[in-house]
Amino acid sequence: MRARLDEVTAGELALGGAVPALTCYDFTTALAVVGAAEDAGRPVILLVAPKTAAGPGGMRFIAALRGLADSASVPVLVQLDHAADPDLILAAAKAGADSVLADGSALEPAENAEFVAGVVRSLAGLDIVVEAELGALPGDEDDASAAAGADATAGMTDPATVAAFLEASGAGLLAVAVGNVHGNYKGEPHLDWNRLSAVKAAAGSLPLVLHGASGLTEADLGGAAAAGIGKVNINTELRTSTLAAVEEALPAMRAAGENMLGLLGVWTGSAAATAAWALELLRPQTPTT
Ligand code: 13P
Repeated sequence: MRARLDEVTAGELALGGAVPALTCYDFTTALAVVGAAEDAGRPVILLVAPKTAAGPGGMRFIAALRGLADSASVPVLVQLDHAADPDLILAAAKAGADSVLADGSALEPAENAEFVAGVVRSLAGLDIVVEAELGALPGDEDDASAAAGADATAGMTDPATVAAFLEASGAGLLAVAVGNVHGNYKGEPHLDWNRLSAVKAAAGSLPLVLHGASGLTEADLGGAAAAGIGKVNINTELRTSTLAAVEEALPAMRAAGENMLGLLGVWTGSAAATAAWALELLRPQTPTT
């Protein structure tokens, strides 16, 4: 069912939980993620990478995810992730995305806020929730090894800039950089919880977003909601587990009469298991029933 990203994340936060957001490059993965959410009775977010949206059939893919989300028995959000192109953002919103990360993280905070405010204005009347990112995460959303040599402490969110940024940008959620990276971490990840606490104090009740969740410990992820994180983005973990499962099953499926259905079953099973793990880990502490 359709829902608003700000309301769903705030609702989960109030119960002590967070909503997982999983990158879907294809419809099979999205079906698996939505099925896992329905089994768990929990909301979930389908992330569309900007390269997917801008690629061949990108808008048709978003429209198909819209249909999938609307037919689900739980709230399913469709978000265009990390978009810096206003034309792509508007096209995705018209195709069926209900939220977008207007990514001005490469800009100075004041210019970033101006960029996000422009996106908010351009989407007025379309019922789209806009997430912003303040500070900049190292790495690349689509490349697991891009952050391998990166310093995770570079570009962290400055709590002193948060209140003015939110006021000027009109963002509904805020993605933070507190030692998190996109892709695989170089060594042990270390989140800066003190910084996160200062960001939360400045952001008030606005839900925060933790990108780069793959590779963080279960203790980190389990403690995220208490620190104000209402949305947790996962991509690499899903790609790694799905590709490993498909690679292992492929020879047997080829030998069994080019068994495409069997291979897709393995793919779906693996993606659903990763989604179920995230849904359970981020489940509210307070029983909802
Ligand atoms: P990971 O690939 O590190 O899980 O990051 C995903 C993400 O933040 C997508 O926006």
